[in-house]
Amino acid sequence: MSEALQHIISAEQFNPDDLAYLVSQADHLLRADQNPRLRRKNAGRHIGRRLISLFYQPSTRTRLSFETAAVAWGMGLVSTENAKEFSSAAKGETLEDTIRVLNQYRPDIIVLRHHETGAAARAAAVSEATIINAGDGKGEHPTQALLDAYTIFKELGRLSNLKVVMGGDLKYGRTVRSLAQILSLYPDNHIDFVSDGEFQASRDILDKLDIARVSYRQTDDMKAAFQGADAVYWTRLQKENLDDPGVSLPTDFVIDSPALDLMEEHTIVMHPLP
Ligand code: NCD
Repeated sequence: MSEALQHIISAEQFNPDDLAYLVSQADHLLRADQNPRLRRKNAGRHIGRRLISLFYQPSTRTRLSFETAAVAWGMGLVSTENAKEFSSAAKGETLEDTIRVLNQYRPDIIVLRHHETGAAARAAAVSEATIINAGDGKGEHPTQALLDAYTIFKELGRLSNLKVVMGGDLKYGRTVRSLAQILSLYPDNHIDFVSDGEFQASRDILDKLDIARVSYRQTDDMKAAFQGADAVYWTRLQKENLDDPGVSLPTDFVIDSPALDLMEEHTIVMHPLP
């Protein structure tokens, strides 16, 4: 990496050199993980280090992939999966105080998922241990974006000169917000944001794309957007993050066989899953 990142809060912390390094490391780890001898070797690399996973919102893949990574590298692991109800937060403790207390257990890394936008930055402000943002409200999900960028690179061979369609709940979905920032690091990318009314991409992310001179379009015509797309990235309605729980996405915002027929042979379809 170009410089050590103390905390991972936002996708905007990464540059193309970091991404190239992470892609090569991920390739290396993937190969190593398939080799029993290298798996055993890697399992001793981080003995004595500690990871705490602190999740205030539901998760399967994100939490267990971090925890599996910790185990694969020989780290000690302490975990809570329903911290909103089962941690001291339920008794009124602030996030900052929880992070201060956990720092007393001398972790190297705290992986945090939280329902409030900005929670990871607040945690980082009081933490000696590295905070990794595993999703904060409708804010960001930088490590999912790294994984998505890796997938695009592996499938399409590049991260530039792409037409990417991002659809669904773009306002409350944090993975879209982080991935758009990663795509803005590379030349000649175009993003079609497909959404409706309340769920369109919010101004702050569009401002970032304007500053980075990324070409984009906002539309509710999903089928037109699919034509010529290299990647279609679809997301679900983020029910738990809505300002107004009464609103909903149009019911025809689904990727069905006719929609697939509109895509190119090489188009990849991606989803960060629930
Ligand atoms: C996403 C999230 O939590 O933001 N899931 C994930 O971590 N891969 C997407 C979602 O829940 O819709």
